[in-house]
Order: sequence, then structure tokens, then C-alpha cells
Amino acid sequence: MKAARIHAYGGPEVLRVEDAPEPVPGPKQVLVEVHATSVNPIDTKIRGGYLRAGLRYKLPRILGLDVSGVVRAVGAKVTGFRPGDAVWSSPGPKLEGTYAELVCVPEAELALKPTNLTHQEAAALPLVALTAWQALFDRGRLKAGDRVLVQAGSGGVGTVAIQLAKHAGAWVATTCSARNAELVTGLGADRVVDYTQEDYTQVLSDLDVVLDALGPAEMLRGRKIVKKGGHLVGITPDVPGHVQRSGPVLGLAATGLTITRHRLGGRWCAGIHASFVTRRPDGAQLAQLTEICEAGALRPVIDRVLPLDDIVEAHRYSETGRARGKIVIAVR
Ligand SMILES: NC(=O)c1ccc[n+]([C@@H]2O[C@H](COP(=O)([O-])OP(=O)(O)OC[C@H]3O[C@@H](n4cnc5c(N)ncnc54)[C@H](OP(=O)(O)O)[C@@H]3O)[C@@H](O)[C@H]2O)c1
Repeated sequence: MKAARIHAYGGPEVLRVEDAPEPVPGPKQVLVEVHATSVNPIDTKIRGGYLRAGLRYKLPRILGLDVSGVVRAVGAKVTGFRPGDAVWSSPGPKLEGTYAELVCVPEAELALKPTNLTHQEAAALPLVALTAWQALFDRGRLKAGDRVLVQAGSGGVGTVAIQLAKHAGAWVATTCSARNAELVTGLGADRVVDYTQEDYTQVLSDLDVVLDALGPAEMLRGRKIVKKGGHLVGITPDVPGHVQRSGPVLGLAATGLTITRHRLGGRWCAGIHASFVTRRPDGAQLAQLTEICEAGALRPVIDRVLPLDDIVEAHRYSETGRARGKIVIAVR
């Protein structure tokens, strides 16, 4: 089958589109024909080798953590899916990735795809939607009437987090540059802070939840605007920065220390709950997101769709940090 693999860690050019062995599903796994996948910043961090001490991949390795496609075959113990089902997933990082014509996904990490989205639209959502959901609701305890700040509202996670927070009945502020103000307002944002002109810590206060996608330094500043007992939830602990400074193994340890420092500092210095969330694959949660999409409350924002052959260009673009929503990869 055709797949995009890395044979070494490095820049976007280490990605090679080539022939790779077809995966065979285990007893509790589903073999999915991939129609579309998408690029997430984590893919570029894995490709760069920043997570190699934790993931310990054997190379070559197929990257990719989002899929929308059709079930081709199921393992002997799979009960919830049949060949022909249209499905979506953001699988965990253990099995081979989704930048391929075929991928095996554990049944527990799969859900039926929203019927009102094409495969390319659906592939834009699973990883960022699970991340936003777990950050806002599982960790942030967001509820109707709460006031939330979504940092980087025009990015992959931000565009989804704004919609999910609005759907839950929250008042939503977001940061973005002026060129993206109309986009985030269209998604439902109540207050848009142009980060090139305004300091959000000066114009926002007393928030129930802050979802931070910018990193530990912004998390420290964000403490000021969370009300006592509120939640500051980070999703970017800056693994690349730590690894560049301390190497692959010590860098991961330093990331762990940063996470602990923020949790304790948030509690002791500001009286808030500060933490970092790592997206957890979850088929049941994805099934709830399917319903939210089908109810019309969540739609993907797609910056561009590129063919699998252009995966190097897709990674280069992701690394500019300027994507408006998601970069989707069409596979078939
Ligand atoms: N923990 C997890 O499980 C998890 C899951 C998903 C993502 N993440 C992490 O979360 C971060 C965001 O991911 P993403 O997919 O949303 O990234 P992305 O789509 O690449 O984000 C790009 C967007 O960020 C905006 N942006 C850049 N600098 C900004 C700033 N200073 N203030 C406000 N907006 C800014 C850009 O808007 P402008 O062009 O207008 O600046 C652009 O629209 C990444 O570091 C990623 O690795 C973590």
C-alpha cells in the first residue's frame, strides 16, 4: 500500500511517500481504508524526533493520528463495526499511523463518522475535537454560563474549542490576529482579542476556564485572568524546547517537571487548578462528537486539502504556525 513514512528523524524532507506493508488487524482491531487524514503539530514534533525517548519507534514508521474512512475487515473479537461502515478515529500512537491507504485501529478508539460530513471534512476533526473536549469539559469542568478564553482560536484546536464551548452555553473569548477575527466570530466567539494589538491579560479577567495552546510562558501569564478555583488547562508543554535545551531523555524529564511546577504553582500562588492535557484516544467520546456534528453544532474549519504525495509541503505549512483550522490530506 502507499504510505508516508520516515526512515530517520529530521525536517519535513525526511517524509517519503512509498510502498509499505499492509497492516493486519489483531483480534480487537479494525482495518480501515483511509479516505482522508490530517496533519497535526504533534506529527511534526514526532517527525522531528522530539518524542523519540518516550515513543521508542522502530523506523521506518508511518506518521499520522487522524483518519476518516471505511471498514475493510474486522478482527475476530470486534463486535461494534462491520465491513463497509464509514468510521473516524484519532488512534493512539502505538500502532502504525494514518498517512497510508490502510490503517489498523483498536475498536475502542473508533466511532461511526458523522453522516453529514465528507471523509475530508471528518478527517479534520478527531484529534483536535478530542483534545478540546478533554481540556474544556473533562479537565476544565466547563458548564453553561461559564466564561472561557480559548487561546489561538483560529488554529486546529481553537476552531473546535470555540464551537464546543458555545454549544455548552459558555461565554467565549478568543485570541487571534486581525486577519482571523471574522473566522472566529463566525464560529461564535463573543470577544475577539487581536494578540498583535491587545494584551489579553489586560482586557480579560475572572474567567472560569482558560484553554492555553501557546505554552508554559503564556500559562504563567494566563494565571492572572482565571478566577479563584477556576481552571487553566494547557495542551502545549513545549517538549521541543525542553528537548532542544536538554536532549531527548532529560528534555522529556524536564517537560514532566514543568507540568508539575505549573500544577503546584497554580494552586499555591494563584488558588487555581492548572494542568496540562494530552489527548486520549476514545471511541465513546468520539461517538458523542459524531452526534454533535450531526446536530449541526460542530463543523470543521479546513485551511487546505493536499494529496498524500504533498505530505512534505503539508508539514512545512503546518510548521509556519499560520494555518487557519486544519490541513487535510486526501488519500483516496
Ligand atoms: N496536548 C495535546 O494532546 C494536544 C493536542 C492538539 C494540539 N496540541 C498542541 O496545541 C498547539 C496548537 O495546536 P493546533 O493544532 O491548534 O495548532 P495550529 O493549527 O498549527 O495553530 C495555528 C494557529 O495559531 C494561531 N496563533 C499563532 N500564534 C498565536 C498567538 N500568539 N496567539 C494567538 N493565536 C496564535 C495562528 O493564528 P495567526 O496566524 O493569526 O497568528 C494560527 O491560526 C500545538 O502546540 C499542538 O502541538 C496539543
